[in-house]
Amino acid sequence: MKIISTEYSQVLAARIARESGCDLVDVKFSRFPDGEHYLRTGSVDNEILVVGSVVDSDSFVQLLLLIDACEGFSPVLLIPYMGYARQDKQFHAGEPLSARAVARGLSSGVSRVYTINIHDPGVLRHFTAPVMNLSLAPEIGAYLDRCGHANPLILAPDGGAAPFARIVAATGGWDCDHLQKTRISGDEVRIEPKSLPVEGRDVVIVDDIISTGGTIATAAGILLSQGALTVTAACVHGVFAGGAYARLIASGVARVAASDTIEQACSAYSAAETVVNGIR
Ligand code: R5P
Repeated sequence: MKIISTEYSQVLAARIARESGCDLVDVKFSRFPDGEHYLRTGSVDNEILVVGSVVDSDSFVQLLLLIDACEGFSPVLLIPYMGYARQDKQFHAGEPLSARAVARGLSSGVSRVYTINIHDPGVLRHFTAPVMNLSLAPEIGAYLDRCGHANPLILAPDGGAAPFARIVAATGGWDCDHLQKTRISGDEVRIEPKSLPVEGRDVVIVDDIISTGGTIATAAGILLSQGALTVTAACVHGVFAGGAYARLIASGVARVAASDTIEQACSAYSAAETVVNGIR
C-alpha cells in the first residue's frame, strides 16, 4: 500500500508511512489563476491510502480532487478530522444535513473509509462505502501517563463524552467523572456546578473536539474555583477556532494537547499507530 495526502494532513500521512513501512507519494499542489485547486500525484499503485482532514472548504475540495486522481486504484480513504460532522440535524426548514452531504461526497470512488473519533457515530450511516470509526482514547491515556500526573481526575465536559473519558481513565486506573453541559450559543456553554473531589488535584478534561474552547474554558473556571491544582485539556481534534488556544490559557488551563488529526503546534500525540493497527 502507498500513502498519499492532501496538504492538510502531510505530517500524519508521513507518520503513517513510517509506522507501516509504506511509501509516501509525492503530490504537487497549486492553484489556477482564478483560485481553483490543482494537483498532480506521483506514481500511484493499486491499494492506496488517501489521507485528508476536512478542516474547511479548501481542504474538502482538495480531498475530492485527490480521490479522483486515485480513481481506478481502489483508494482507501482516511478522514482524520471530518469537519461539518456536527451539523447532522435540521434545526430549521431549509437547512442541509451538512454531515450527510460531506459523507456522500467523500464516499464516491473509494473502496473503504476510516474516520477518527467522529463527533457522532450516527453520521457514519451517511457514507455509501463501508466505514469504520477509530478511537484515540487509548493514545490520549498513554500521553497522560507520560505526563506523570499523580492521581489525576479525568473529566468529560458532558455525558456524551463520558464513555470516551472512561477509556482514557482506564489506561492508568484513574478516577473519572463527567460534567453537565448545556450549549447556549456557538461559543458559549453553561456547565452545572457539581461537587467533585478536585481539591489539590490535577484534573484533565478530555473531549473529542476543542473548537472555540468555550466548553473547556468554562469547565476550567469552575474546577479551579473548586480548588483544582492544575487543569489540563486533552482532545482528539484541535480545531482552535477564533483564538481558542489563547482563550484556554487565559482561563487558567495549564496545558492544552491535541492529536495530529489537525496539525497544530500543540499536537502532542499521533493517530498514526491507531490508523495502522486499524487498517491492518
Ligand atoms: C460537543 O459536543 C463536542 O464534544 C465538544 O465538546 C465541542 O465541540 C467543543 O466545542 P467548543 O470548544 O466550541 O466549546
